[in-house]
Amino acid sequence: MKLFSLYFSVYATAVCGQSVYEADWKSYKMKHNKIYSKGEDDVRNAIFLARDKQLKLHNSQGHSYQLEHNKFSDLSHEELTRYLGLNASLAPSARFLQSFNVQFENRALPTSLYYHNDTCMPPVKDQGGCGSCWAFAAVAPLEFAQCKNKTKSVVLLSEQQLVDCVQIAGSCTGGWYTDAWDYLIAAKGSAKQSFYPYTGVQGTCKYCPGCACMIGAKVFTYGYVPSNNATAMQIALQKYGPLAVAIAAVNPFFSYSSGVYTDTTCDKADLNHGVVVVGWGILSRVKYWIVRNSWGPGWGLKGYILIQRGVNKCKMELYPAYVVPAS
Ligand SMILES: *[C@@H]1O[C@H](CO)[C@@H](O)[C@H](O)[C@H]1NC(C)=O
Ligand SMILES: *[C@@H]1O[C@H](CO)[C@@H](O)[C@H](O)[C@H]1NC(C)=O
Ligand SMILES: *[C@@H]1O[C@H](CO)[C@@H](O)[C@H](O)[C@H]1NC(C)=O
Ligand SMILES: *[C@@H]1O[C@H](CO)[C@@H](O)[C@H](O)[C@H]1NC(C)=O
Repeated sequence: MKLFSLYFSVYATAVCGQSVYEADWKSYKMKHNKIYSKGEDDVRNAIFLARDKQLKLHNSQGHSYQLEHNKFSDLSHEELTRYLGLNASLAPSARFLQSFNVQFENRALPTSLYYHNDTCMPPVKDQGGCGSCWAFAAVAPLEFAQCKNKTKSVVLLSEQQLVDCVQIAGSCTGGWYTDAWDYLIAAKGSAKQSFYPYTGVQGTCKYCPGCACMIGAKVFTYGYVPSNNATAMQIALQKYGPLAVAIAAVNPFFSYSSGVYTDTTCDKADLNHGVVVVGWGILSRVKYWIVRNSWGPGWGLKGYILIQRGVNKCKMELYPAYVVPAS
């Protein structure tokens, strides 16, 4: 494969009079359906080349995870932040967290737990360039728990309802997943996605509390899992299903391809993204969480990423939360 692409690049240089880099850029654009005017093309090409250098260097260094080009490779830092959307100033205070005072009874835990391929796990969704990760992080655990405990098959729920209707910050400029659950408790229902589909732009709230057929699930309550306690997270996962978490996503995260993510640059970065923990396991002696993202099934491992477990990697063990649907 490598040999082939090298051959292709050299061939392209010889035949078309373009450089190896030009050929890479052209095939990247073709693969990801990117069409630019001449001026924009130069800017994008420069971003792509810088990232290309980082990727190749990283992948040659024998890390536990690999990077690859994807739809993000030619986006600027400012553009990348639109695919996040966690407002860290909405994080609960230590005092608020204490008020939950959850006691998790210890139990024997298996070495792995997989919900990513459970029949109750909905397909990976795509938030697009709207900072609505918090809504996707709130909806997936609810969809899963509702399926497990009630419907026994997946009923997709509406992120757009949250984008349009949640009053505390929210919309495409960023929010927090438990504010979404608070809203759903107050609104007395989460609309089905089929009734309230995703547009990725904020609109007026179209939720109708009286329209029973529109409602796909109700939230009974939610809770926070004790911070910095991977064991408590495992117990909560087993008991309540997938957990919403806050994470600090940095550049290499966007380019993740496979392996266990052990990046150290994210440990000191600010929380900026909401994702969902759906399981755990061990790969080559490195413990990991299985984490579901909202960047479509084409990103990472079919939309998922494995992140190092038990070390608060990228700060993701600070604010894990579970949701309980109303019966
Ligand atoms: C984040 O939340 C804070 C507190 O509610 C708010 O003042 C701020 O405007 C929000 N930031 C954005 C970008 O919406
Ligand atoms: C982590 O949580 C478990 C289960 O609730 C608890 O038994 C244990 O003491 C906690 N560990 C720490 C360090 O607080
Ligand atoms: C789910 O995925 C895990 C890990 O990839 C695999 O070992 C397991 O057999 C899968 N289970 C099902 C039901 O497909
Ligand atoms: C299902 O409901 C029971 C009883 O309310 C609760 O204890 C359990 O955690 C729920 N399971 C999930 C996956 O939410």
